[in-house]
Amino acid sequence: MARITAGIGSSHVPAIGAAFDHGKTQDPYWKPVFEGYEWVKEFQRKEDPDVVILCYNDHASALMLDVVPTFALGCAEEFAPADEGWGARPVPMVMGDPVLAGHLAEQLVIDNFDLTLMNHLDVDHGLTVPLSLMFGKVEQWPVRVIPLAINVTQFPTPSAERCWQLGAAIADAVQSYPAGLNVQIWGTGGMSHQLQGPRAGLINPEFDNAFLDKLSNQTDDLRKISRLEFLRESGSEGIELIMWLIMRAALGDKVEELHRFYHVPASNTAVGHIVLRPVR
Ligand code: DHB
Ligand code: FE
Repeated sequence: MARITAGIGSSHVPAIGAAFDHGKTQDPYWKPVFEGYEWVKEFQRKEDPDVVILCYNDHASALMLDVVPTFALGCAEEFAPADEGWGARPVPMVMGDPVLAGHLAEQLVIDNFDLTLMNHLDVDHGLTVPLSLMFGKVEQWPVRVIPLAINVTQFPTPSAERCWQLGAAIADAVQSYPAGLNVQIWGTGGMSHQLQGPRAGLINPEFDNAFLDKLSNQTDDLRKISRLEFLRESGSEGIELIMWLIMRAALGDKVEELHRFYHVPASNTAVGHIVLRPVR
């Protein structure tokens, strides 16, 4: 039986990817950010997961505004790094798991989540930057990845509660998969940031730290956060934190916090990172 053994939350700032790709990880500005991910790189070496279900959002890189799926599941054999305007990141191709993805699609649709099935999908910084942070510079990614892209670019975005329910349904679907896989689930994006308008540059460490504090075992509060509250408290792009709620819900009732990192700022964003273990 497949098991979800850990959940990981992480910011996915594109400038972190650029710093990584251009050898700037030891620059004074970037060093503390990359140091915050040393713990998880060691953790991954020990855990050696088979597959990551990677909940992220596309930033109108691969999914332009002509088609905006609410929940898009990557079912392809492989996913190329997207060209976001500066050429594709020089990172390996992302290998999928079409058999597990097909199982998730079937179980989630039976569970009333009407997914969009992506048989072709280029993956942007929302997916590739956390892979670099978690695995470093590699010839091949050491895991297969099933991308799950959530719409946060165009209103109406799915609610926190709906994302929670999706995470719980993913847990059920993984549990009914017969192969003995070590599966992780990640939620990327956030934490507080706003890239546009009069409040551009907004960062709210109180909101972010309360979110991290509650993520383990006070999740009822987080499930009730409205779109308006995310906008007001965490800026227009803070809504990316709904991906973390899918991740958290997939871990079940109780979790243990194994690691946490919070750093302000990287580019325009509060960088947050957490590693959770389900307690069964
Ligand atoms: C930034 C952060 C993001 O999460 C993103 O998707 C794009 C830009 C930033 O801080 O610049
Ligand atoms: Fe983003």
